[in-house]
Amino acid sequence: MKGRNSFYVTTPIYYVNDIPHIGHAYTTVAADVLARFWRLMGKDVFFLTGTDEHGQKVEQAAAKKGLSPKEHADIMVKNFQHLWKELNISNNAFIRTTDQEHKRIVQELLSHLWEKGEIVKRTYTGWYCVPDERFWTEKELVDGKCPDCGRPVEYISEDNYFFLMSRYQERLIRYIEDNPYYILPETRKNEVLGFLKNQPLGDLCISRPKSRLSWGIELPFDRDYVTYVWFDALVNYYSATKYLAPQGIEWWPADHHLIGKDILMTHAVYWSTMLMALELPLPGNIFAHGWWTVEGRKMSKSLGNVVDPFQVIKEFGVDQFRYFLLREVTFGLDGDFSKDAMIQRINTDLANDLGNLLQRTLSMITKYFKGLIPEPEDTEKELKTITEGALEKIEINLRYLAFQKALEEIWQIVGAVNKYIDSSQPWALAKDPSKKGRLQTVLYSAAEALRFIGYYLMAFMPEASYRLLEQLGITSSTVTFATYNPDLKEEALWGRLKPGTVIKKVEPLFPRILIEK
Ligand code: MSP
Repeated sequence: MKGRNSFYVTTPIYYVNDIPHIGHAYTTVAADVLARFWRLMGKDVFFLTGTDEHGQKVEQAAAKKGLSPKEHADIMVKNFQHLWKELNISNNAFIRTTDQEHKRIVQELLSHLWEKGEIVKRTYTGWYCVPDERFWTEKELVDGKCPDCGRPVEYISEDNYFFLMSRYQERLIRYIEDNPYYILPETRKNEVLGFLKNQPLGDLCISRPKSRLSWGIELPFDRDYVTYVWFDALVNYYSATKYLAPQGIEWWPADHHLIGKDILMTHAVYWSTMLMALELPLPGNIFAHGWWTVEGRKMSKSLGNVVDPFQVIKEFGVDQFRYFLLREVTFGLDGDFSKDAMIQRINTDLANDLGNLLQRTLSMITKYFKGLIPEPEDTEKELKTITEGALEKIEINLRYLAFQKALEEIWQIVGAVNKYIDSSQPWALAKDPSKKGRLQTVLYSAAEALRFIGYYLMAFMPEASYRLLEQLGITSSTVTFATYNPDLKEEALWGRLKPGTVIKKVEPLFPRILIEK
């Protein structure tokens, strides 16, 4: 039985034949926000990412450079690991499909399916797309070419091993219909159901003769073959729980597999039916996000517009990038990346709305109370309700991976505090000694609301939140061990910011980006 207080989230494992781009950063940042959020809520979290290192594409990329596939992978994997460090990704483990343990588990599962009669040997005659490593039927071809990539296909006839996926067609349809949370967003669920209902589901060829491809995991029951790269890759989600996750907790099934829309079918159909055949529970949710275009155009190497995450970080900052990715578009839909959009977000939401709020609150506390958090006379009920109540809304939104809405909830507080300051006019109160008590209440309340904002943003912008809280005089140990959950930690209740706390006013949290003309 899966531990009730555990949370397990995955990203796709990325091919090592390429260098990381914005698409890789996107899924990984999203997964990181979930991992951080649920940790703050007091759960045991296992957050897995990694690399997909077998298969033809990797073999070819290595050959081009005159390296063995493993040498090539060892070099390329560093780019991903480096990026995750830069992006402040809190993954607990990093799986490589060339790990000995992973290979052993893949073979164990293959043997098990073979012994159960879920895999059979057949002669396959038909069309094969070499770059995509996929078989196609005559009917599926478009103008005699691969329907996926449009490249020429080869006619081949060879013996191969097939996983009897077709057996599970009805069961999978029922499962998806009975579990509306299983595939999200709903449009993607409908796409999968449409696919499953409109044609007979074929069996899946899970072997490649070594004569054609040697870079893979050997079939334990036939040494002349390696297994199809997707069979190997999908198993990573399960195998990691057996050798990379902290033991003593049952991590499987995962709570979320985050993926891009292009790899929905492999997850929703191949992986689900593989798990059914293995008699393992299915993950709680598969969420397929959309794709980023760049200034309205498809991102591609040939167009030379591939967004380099390292460059974006250098130019705009880590948290600014993390914020943009999740705030700009609804998770699940396609989005457009441009420097203008990024600058707009930073200057408006971060520098203006939030940064200024912090600046002016701290400035007034410095000016009127010598930099000490004042003692409030009253509790500002409205602000208290908004700030405390946001947690539940953030939580519900994050259950559905509605990152954008969760951030909007936080900005509701930002807006409310800005309005509160504008209408309370502390600068006017400061001129009238009889209003001192009121002034204390106003500045205390603004600072207290900012403390909540700092906590709520921790999952999204860990470094900036940390600095925000630090400026409010909250020490690092409290920040690290604070949790959102009011049942667990009292920091999550209004009024816990101690009057008398010394604030630390430093440089602006989010500098404005000057627009070059
Ligand atoms: N190795 C497989 C996944 C195996 S998971 C068991 C793979 N690797 S990949 O390196 O090609 O992964 C790419 C991920 O990046 C996919 O989730 C894909 O959707 C995502 N993206 C690729 N281009 C993208 C955009 N332009 N925008 C957003 N995400 C994009 O597939």
